[in-house]
Amino acid sequence: MKIELKNNKLFFEYNGLKKEIHPFWLRERVNGDSFVDKATKQRLFDPTKLKENIQINSMNLSNDFLEITFDDGVQTKLAIQNILKEFSNMSDIKYISKIKWDSSLKDFNNFEFNDNFFEEEEMYKALMSFYQYGFVIFKKVPTQNNFIVNFANSIGSIRRTNFGEFFNVKSKPNPNDLAYTSLPLAPHTDNPYRNPVPCIQILHCIENEVSGGYSTLVDGFTVTEQLKKDFPKYFKILSEIKVRFQFIDQSVVLENWAEMIQLDEFGEFKQVRFSPRLDFVPLMDKEKLELYYSARKKISELYNSDDYRIEFKLQPGDLLMMDNYRLLHGRTTYDANEGNRFLQGCYIDYDSTEGKLKHLKRKFNL
Ligand SMILES: [Fe+2]
Repeated sequence: MKIELKNNKLFFEYNGLKKEIHPFWLRERVNGDSFVDKATKQRLFDPTKLKENIQINSMNLSNDFLEITFDDGVQTKLAIQNILKEFSNMSDIKYISKIKWDSSLKDFNNFEFNDNFFEEEEMYKALMSFYQYGFVIFKKVPTQNNFIVNFANSIGSIRRTNFGEFFNVKSKPNPNDLAYTSLPLAPHTDNPYRNPVPCIQILHCIENEVSGGYSTLVDGFTVTEQLKKDFPKYFKILSEIKVRFQFIDQSVVLENWAEMIQLDEFGEFKQVRFSPRLDFVPLMDKEKLELYYSARKKISELYNSDDYRIEFKLQPGDLLMMDNYRLLHGRTTYDANEGNRFLQGCYIDYDSTEGKLKHLKRKFNL
């Protein structure tokens, strides 16, 4: 990618395509103390109040800077690097390469918590690992006084739901969700009936005295890629048809229509939803339904296969942070008579982790 100057017009060239940069786009980016607030980096002027047909009177391009005088008298000096950054989205979180994994994943990164952890470079590494693998485990996180709330709010803000600011995962009488029993939980994603679905789930182990109750994870990205390769028709229909996900209890009815495999605007992986106790497939032609049910059965087989699942036992103080758009999670059964199994959980959204990651990147010049 490069930018060049010709006849008082600025062009950028990318992938063999050459396009002019609109003068107004440059005018919006003028810097200096009278245009941008030093502390907040927010604009001190309103670009919607500028005249529309801003023109460039003169321009000078050097290796590192672009100096421009606009026809409204404003002069500015822009760093070329900053302009290029806006064209390459390489600093964007979604360009952190996902590392696909399956049941052969043995040594995953653990990060030891300490008091100043959220402002350390180690936290940056933990968040990078989270974006690469879709999960990360923090060790020795304090288990007293609902510390999970402090933990989540030190990254960003808790996403509160009808389960509360955080929830206690242990078997209890009259549960409103199978999570609150000692039954095994097959791989699933959480809360597909919400709009938007909470992005990240945090589970903090407070007590685990039982011999079962292993945590399980599956990489939905790996499975989706496999399905796309081996069963393209199944991949296609699961990514096209919106089904109704539903949660009902005494006080609320939550519903959302969405695809089990959701792609982004470029046709790339965005999100999986899978919770076969909560999904309702719409009434379609019989042939289409047949294909849909076969596709759902196949992806369920893959999600539940030993080939993709990892299992591990969370110890008291372990905190698992997982991407609810990418991973499926579950647990093996346990015998509640053996002792306590007590986890606390909550949700945060991507803006929290993204904001923290970008902050630490800036702080440590990474
Ligand atoms: Fe869950």
